[in-house]
This record gives sequence, structure tokens and C-alpha cells, in this order.
Amino acid sequence: MLQLKMLVLFFMVVSSVFRCSATADQRDFTDAFYYGVLPDSFTWGVSTAAYQIEGAWNEDGKSEHIWDRFCHEGGHVDRNHTGDVACDSYHKWRDDITILKELGVKHYRFSLSWSRIVPDPTTGVVNQAGVDFYLNLITAVKQAGIEPLVTLFHWDLPQILEDNGSWGNETIIQQYKHYADVAFSHFGHLVKYWLTFNEPWVVTWQGYGIGDYAPGIKQPATLPYLYAHNIIKCHAQAWHLYDTTYRARFNGMVSITLNTDFFAPKNSSKPEDVEAAERAAQFSVGWFAHPIYVDGDYPQVMKDYVQRNSNTIDGSSRLPKFTVSEKLFIKGTFDYFGLNHYSTSLCEPADAAYQASVPKGYLGDMEVKLTRDPKWRKAASSYLYYVPWGMRGILNFIRTHYNNTPVIVTENGVTDHNGTLHDSFRIDYLRSYMNELIKAVLIDKCNVIGYTVWSIMDNFEWARGYTEKFGLYYVDFDNPQRPRVAKQSAMFYKGVIADRGFPDPGIIG
Ligand SMILES: *[C@@H]1O[C@H](CO)[C@@H](O)[C@H](O)[C@H]1NC(C)=O
Ligand SMILES: *[C@@H]1O[C@H](CO)[C@@H](O)[C@H](O)[C@H]1NC(C)=O
Ligand SMILES: *[C@@H]1O[C@H](CO)[C@@H](O)[C@H](O)[C@H]1NC(C)=O
Ligand SMILES: *[C@@H]1O[C@H](CO)[C@@H](O)[C@H](O)[C@H]1NC(C)=O
Ligand SMILES: *[C@@H]1O[C@H](CO)[C@@H](O)[C@H](O)[C@H]1NC(C)=O
Repeated sequence: MLQLKMLVLFFMVVSSVFRCSATADQRDFTDAFYYGVLPDSFTWGVSTAAYQIEGAWNEDGKSEHIWDRFCHEGGHVDRNHTGDVACDSYHKWRDDITILKELGVKHYRFSLSWSRIVPDPTTGVVNQAGVDFYLNLITAVKQAGIEPLVTLFHWDLPQILEDNGSWGNETIIQQYKHYADVAFSHFGHLVKYWLTFNEPWVVTWQGYGIGDYAPGIKQPATLPYLYAHNIIKCHAQAWHLYDTTYRARFNGMVSITLNTDFFAPKNSSKPEDVEAAERAAQFSVGWFAHPIYVDGDYPQVMKDYVQRNSNTIDGSSRLPKFTVSEKLFIKGTFDYFGLNHYSTSLCEPADAAYQASVPKGYLGDMEVKLTRDPKWRKAASSYLYYVPWGMRGILNFIRTHYNNTPVIVTENGVTDHNGTLHDSFRIDYLRSYMNELIKAVLIDKCNVIGYTVWSIMDNFEWARGYTEKFGLYYVDFDNPQRPRVAKQSAMFYKGVIADRGFPDPGIIG
């Protein structure tokens, strides 16, 4: 560990010859290293999600959810891996607390499983064993001096709801509100940060558009729009419930977390590429953020492009409309901005060949050709290229488009296939992305209040099973004990947290 620290210091000294140009213009963003530390109030954390770590898929009254079904069906997930056991955190959650303490994080982000707490949402009966499990976990996290950051929904929809019309059935809005109420009432006194949904873009597009994620439905023209519409309404219900019933007592913060690339023009000298990048961002993050953070409605450019691609005689659109009262209800339902960010895409107007290559529907509607620079370094995950300046770019996008709302980066991290403990590639990635975040805060005055590494440990990586590993800690999935073993990146992150960023080696004693 000492050797590692010296190595890191060596890199810092070497890179200190480069200095970052102090400008917020995205085209001037560079990867040059910038020394700086963040205030004490800044919160550093790590994240997980229920299905990816818990296991115990059918214990203590938990019902089946769509990821249980999807994995058990076979044929959807690499090597037909499942989350049946995963990191076994349902039984080994004390081990998770141990490594959280070892890292020195200020917050721990994890999700509750709806199927454990309200196994049959059509009856609404609460499963006490599920409540007890999370109460024990949350209490222990608090006792360790760590703030829980709790996601209500991280993709594991109870199967019975999927079978009863999924997110298209309006009844789900009251069922979701009830579930949120159970969570707020049982855990609200202990939880400062809440998230209603993790990545609704992935839920709707990958679950119901291209179907590579549970429940594996492929309706790219219609279902993502219809289901997103009700997910936004569910989110707004949960936020208002907290606001009216719980805020005065518990004083927590409730929001949603959105995943997005940074969308950069392929050629920033071309106005059409600049416009394409803005359109891609509005179709991705704006789809959810514009209703919630701006005016209760979808971005105008998204309404225009979906309508013209709907090609209907009566001019109707595949994108649903909010009523006036719905818009008023949705607008402003946030206390911060949750951001999951990993990579960057280059944008230009789509040509006919590109349009023919993408599924007709959401992706075609935006009319943007998305590419990656072949020079960018690649991670194990197909979508994950190292583009550190994209972190600074997306934080500035949020600053300018969403009124500099306080941001917590709720996920950022990188994969390999082998889970090596000598993960210098992960240190490179995290160090450069965190450094761009620090530039965004200290130079550009982006209002970022927290940062979270995905993930504290290797876990079930959805359709990639256990073949792609994000962990700061290694988990041997062939060992029934599932020991958690620190990688070099864990000790690196521990150091960054202790230092509150990257102090200039020239001015530390
Ligand atoms: C996964 O399950 C599917 C469906 O049961 C089966 O056809 C396939 O051979 C399995 N693949 C592996 C790698 O076991
Ligand atoms: C909607 O869900 C409720 C229960 O959750 C069910 O009773 C009803 O039949 C569902 N409607 C449709 C159209 O599936
Ligand atoms: C609701 O789901 C249950 C259990 O999966 C199923 O038996 C029932 O037929 C579904 N009802 C409707 C209206 O789809
Ligand atoms: C970018 O666009 C400008 C204006 O059209 C053009 O002059 C320039 O050659 C382009 N750059 C590249 C690298 O294609
Ligand atoms: C494991 O993967 C990483 C990232 O791709 C690579 O840098 C490293 O060399 C690999 N290690 C082994 C032992 O294969």
C-alpha cells in the first residue's frame, strides 16, 4: 500500500507540469491534471443495488421480480448467470459495513427491493421480514457514521405488476406511492437522501425498447414513451408524498437519478453537429429532467421530433402528453439532481444509413448519429470508453440547463473482465473522472455536492452476469463465503476521500 501511495504521488508530481486552462467552454476541456480539494461538506460514497448484491431471492417472504424471472428463463444473461446468491449481502451485510468503514466513505447508496417489502403490491400487504432486513442494515450504516442514500426502485419490478400491465397500467402509480409510503414511514427517520428511481432511461429503453434487460420486451416505438410517462408520474407522487407528509419531521432530500453520457458535437465548428448534440441530450437526460427540473413537460425538441416521426394523419404523436394539472404536479419535484455518468458520445445529424441501422422508434426519432472516437481507451463494457472531460461537460450541461441544481453523482466507475487486485486501469479512470469533477466545481462553479463510485464490490452486472466487474473490492463468486478483498483502487479511493480530492503536493507539508 505504501508503494502504491508513492506511485500515485509520482504520477501527481509528473502531471503537475500540466495546468488546466480555466474556462467553462466545453471545447477547451482538457485532461490536464488540476490540483484542488473539495469542502468538508462534500459527500463521498460508494453504491450498490439490491438485486446485484443481495441474493436470497426467495427467502423470508420475498416475491419473484422481473430480474428473477429473466435470469431463470435462461438465454438472456451471459452464461445464464443469476442473482440468486450474488454477493449474498442479505446474509453478509455486516461484511459490507466493514468495508464501508475501511474505505471511510461518508455515504452508502443501495436500493430497497420492492418485492421484499410489499411482495404483492396488488394487496399492499407489508412483509415485516423485509422491513426488518432493511431496518437492520440502515441502522448499522448510521451507527458506522455513514449516511444511507436509498434508492426505492433499481429495476426489480415485482413480477405480478409486470403481469398486470406493467408501467402501462395506471394502477401502478398508487401501488408505487404506497410502497414509497411504507419506505418513508419505516426508514425516513434514518435516511437523509432518497432516490425514487434509478435510471428510468434504462428501465424503459433496455427493458421494453430493445429488450436486452428484464423483462426483455422489444417495442422500441411505443412502450418506452408510455412507460416513462407513468414512471415520471410515480416519481412525482413519491416526492409530493414526502414533501407533504414527511419533510417537516425528517428533513431529507428526495430525487431521481438519471443516467446520461455527455453528448458532444462530432465537429464543434459545425452548427448542425452542435444542434445534434443538444437534441441527443434532450432525448436522453432531458426526457426525464425537463419535466421534473424545468416546466413539467418534455423538451420541445423531443415533442417535435417524435411527432414528425410518428407519421400519423391526424398529427398525433407516440409521445404521450401531460395535462395542465399533471405538469404543475410534476414540475419542481426534486431536492437535488442524481447523476449516473460513465462515458461520452459524439453527435452529428443522422444519415439514411444510420437511421436504417437503428430500431425504428425512440432511437430513430432523435435523428442523431452517435459514435465514439476510436482513439478513446475502452473498458470491458461495450458502452464504456474513458472520456474524463465528459464528466466536466455533463456537469456543466446540468449547471446551464437545470439552474445549477445541487448534483450528487450517484454512479461512476469502470469495468474489467478479470477482477484483478492490481487494477491500475481503474485508478486511472477514477482519478481522471474525479479530477474533472473537481474542475467543474472549483473552476466552473458547478454545484456538485457528492460523488459515488459504482461499485463497492464486484457484483451481478445485469445481462453481463459476473463477466464484467466494477468493484473496488474483489468477490470470488465460486467461494460460498463470498469474501470481499480490497483491490488497489479501494486504497486509492480511501486516500482521495481522506484528502478531500487532490491536494497540490507542493503545498502539503
Ligand atoms: C442458457 O439457457 C438457455 C435457455 O434455457 C439455453 O438454451 C442455453 O444453452 C443456456 N446457455 C448456457 C451457456 O448454459
Ligand atoms: C391493472 O392492475 C390491476 C392490479 O394491479 C389489475 O386488477 C388490473 O386488471 C390491471 N389492468 C390491466 C389492463 O391489466
Ligand atoms: C395479474 O397477475 C396475476 C399473477 O401473475 C395473473 O394471474 C393475472 O391474470 C393478472 N391479471 C391481469 C388482468 O393481467
Ligand atoms: C469541422 O468543420 C469545419 C467547418 O465545416 C471544417 O472546416 C473542418 O474541416 C471540420 N473538421 C474536421 C476535423 O472534420
Ligand atoms: C485484467 O484486466 C485489466 C483491464 O482490462 C488489464 O489491465 C489487466 O492486465 C488484466 N490482468 C490480468 C491478470 O489478466
